[in-house]
Amino acid sequence: MKKFIYLDNAATSFPKPPQVTESVIHFLEKVGANPGRSGHKLSMEASAIVRKTRESLARLFNTKDPGRIVFTMNATESLNTVIYGFLNKGDNVIISSMEHNSVVRPLKHLEENSVITLIIAPCDNKGFLDIDELKKLINKNTALMVLNHASNICGTIQDIRAVKNALGNIPLLLDAAQTAGCHPIDVNADDIDFLAFTGHKGLLGPQGTGGLYIKEGLTVRPLKRGGTGTISESIKQPESLPDSLESGTQNNPGIAGLGAGVDFILKEGIDEIKKHEELLTSTLLKELRGLPGLTIYGPLRADLQTSTISITFHSILPTGDNHEFGGCGSINLAWMEEGATASDAGHILDSDFDIFVRVGLHCAPLAHKTLGTFPEGTVRLSMGYFNTIQDIEYAAKAIKRIAGIK
Ligand SMILES: Cc1ncc(COP(=O)(O)O)c(C=O)c1O
Repeated sequence: MKKFIYLDNAATSFPKPPQVTESVIHFLEKVGANPGRSGHKLSMEASAIVRKTRESLARLFNTKDPGRIVFTMNATESLNTVIYGFLNKGDNVIISSMEHNSVVRPLKHLEENSVITLIIAPCDNKGFLDIDELKKLINKNTALMVLNHASNICGTIQDIRAVKNALGNIPLLLDAAQTAGCHPIDVNADDIDFLAFTGHKGLLGPQGTGGLYIKEGLTVRPLKRGGTGTISESIKQPESLPDSLESGTQNNPGIAGLGAGVDFILKEGIDEIKKHEELLTSTLLKELRGLPGLTIYGPLRADLQTSTISITFHSILPTGDNHEFGGCGSINLAWMEEGATASDAGHILDSDFDIFVRVGLHCAPLAHKTLGTFPEGTVRLSMGYFNTIQDIEYAAKAIKRIAGIK
């Protein structure tokens, strides 16, 4: 097969560990049955696989009760489950200005239907939430904050403890789509109320898998109701987790693969994964930083971001102390020197270099407005555990070539 460099792990991770593929195939070929439904040997085996994945996730996120983790199709379903199942008429919700449309669109829908009011808390031009401003925005109706743990555009990681401190008793729904599996998450230590995660990115599982952790004491109305394989004598939806939120046959082959992905992470160690991804990030930043004809967005510090970097082929000239030439994202620009558009650059990376990235707005127009990159968007390079330093050096060479640097 032709050699290529995959730098689109923020969209979905690739490749997967071989154990993930093997577990999906094993489920399809050797198990096949519906877990929790029929009680025969194969159904019991399927139940054991689903239970084991739940237990592995509980270990990864440090919760003692795996039953408080429910499986969903993806982070989008997890976020929608809390947004439609926890909020009530008259509630106020705060989000940050770095959110993904999976958060913004359902909340806008509720706002437009006069169910909730919505406040957008500002972030700076590197994507960090302004905690002092957040404190001022909280009001007596604030019932939930929804926050992107790390930006899918430029990797900025938010300080969860500072946010929790500012929120007091107001629950936090953390969108961990970009951090689960590559950044330590401890729902106990960080007192996280709701954790929405997807299975196919950092957790290295198949697409069509995801989940939601719900802290004890919080209740969520189901998005869908139906058969759960439990208390079949009742025509009412079960009230206890995980069954109350898991109606219908799940993506069980996918859950088997997700379990293998999480076990791979537990075995390698999240710190090891983070260390490798930080090395890739700092290498790319070192290669690209300060070059004319190029602007990098985000913290520009491997320890403050995930291994996702966004660039444009423009030189943003500084307008103030906070802006660094060829260095960081900016709003209210004095002027720009134009280079290749994001979409042209993405096309060249693909056709001339076999480097696969994602360009444009990345389903996060609000965040691009915050970074000053709306409406054109950026070229996003998102690295994963299976990328090597050689991949990054080759990608840096290709980017320099597009920027006209020898
Ligand atoms: C920050 C963020 N939230 C939510 C999502 C939605 O994830 P999924 O497509 O798996 O539902 C994504 C996916 O790109 C994301 O980056």
